[in-house]
Amino acid sequence: MYKYTTSSFTTRLGMRPIVARALYSSSASSPIKRVAVVGGGQMGAGIAQVSATFEHGVTLIDVNAEALERGQKYMAKSLARVAKKKFPAEPNVASDWVEAVLGRVRPTTSLSEGVRSADLVVEAVVENIGVKQKLFGDIAQAAPGHCLLASNTSSLPIGRIAEHLDAEAKARTLGLHFFNPVPQMKLVEVVRAEHTGAQAIESAVAFVESIGKAPAVCKDTPGFIVNRLLLPYMMEAIRLLERGAAEARDIDTAMKLGAGYPMGPFELCDYVGLDTLKFITDGWFKEGDGLRGDKAFAASPKLDELVAAGHLGVKSGRGFYDYSASKKK
Ligand code: 3HC
Repeated sequence: MYKYTTSSFTTRLGMRPIVARALYSSSASSPIKRVAVVGGGQMGAGIAQVSATFEHGVTLIDVNAEALERGQKYMAKSLARVAKKKFPAEPNVASDWVEAVLGRVRPTTSLSEGVRSADLVVEAVVENIGVKQKLFGDIAQAAPGHCLLASNTSSLPIGRIAEHLDAEAKARTLGLHFFNPVPQMKLVEVVRAEHTGAQAIESAVAFVESIGKAPAVCKDTPGFIVNRLLLPYMMEAIRLLERGAAEARDIDTAMKLGAGYPMGPFELCDYVGLDTLKFITDGWFKEGDGLRGDKAFAASPKLDELVAAGHLGVKSGRGFYDYSASKKK
């Protein structure tokens, strides 16, 4: 069994057999018991769900009751799916379990009240730097002094999000990047900004393990690990289509059956959301650290055309594929 100490952790940060440790360690005890999630969208609801599944007390915070209701519906649907597999022959036990998990998530529209007793706050709101900077200021004011402050951003630097915090709060600020669908995807990137303290990373890693996921620690560079590799691949697939090399369906089939990917690149683009893909790549092309002007992220006429037409992927009913007739292509 792999076990780390604080000193080995700090000296070997980034060079550890992270996945092996996550898979085999059963003794990792997280000091984090109460989690506040800001943003009840798919990512926020997913993070609240998995935290509650692993017995953390959770508050889910959003601006209004409708948003919270949407988040609760997402969790109920996803938990029902999980419960069906967990208790295949016991429908009553399954529904009691779903109720119990949902009961550990307290919805609220009050940020200050929602984070007041949190050990960890995870922000999962819109990808807007101004909104996030203001939010982190408010959270740092209202949360306890020991509380970890994490962002689930996929495209914005943690260092910029924390820019206006004092040094002490900055040391507790980091990225916790989850993947969609959160209840199913095993990875969480733990993003260490320049100002993030070793203790914060250590606590975050223990938390990630406590919710049954595998942490991958990385620096605060654009795209962290997964998106830095995934987005050039998705953009190159679109350019392959634009060059007429193959149809989207054939490219998807090729990558699923030839490379073993669970989704083809166009299915993945539609799943992630074409607006999200465009937002991230445009941002990096314009001002990504070390990526400014990088051809991999240059605008794609096809992507621009789909986004302008409101074809944003699965969520809008149409993207590279049409989802209006049936859910499955
Ligand atoms: N809640 C709970 N469980 C879920 C779920 C959800 N929302 N969605 C899927 N699952 C579970 C199913 O219950 C099933 O579990 P089982 O294997 O134990 O029975 C399993 O996932 C597979 O689901 P399905 O059989 O319904 O469908 P697929 O086999 O087609 O898998 C998928 C769906 C898991 C989404 C798979 O296609 C996949 O892994 N795709 C790649 C997803 C991916 O790359 N995500 C990362 C996107 S990038 C990102 O998020 C970063 C952001 O910053 C942009």
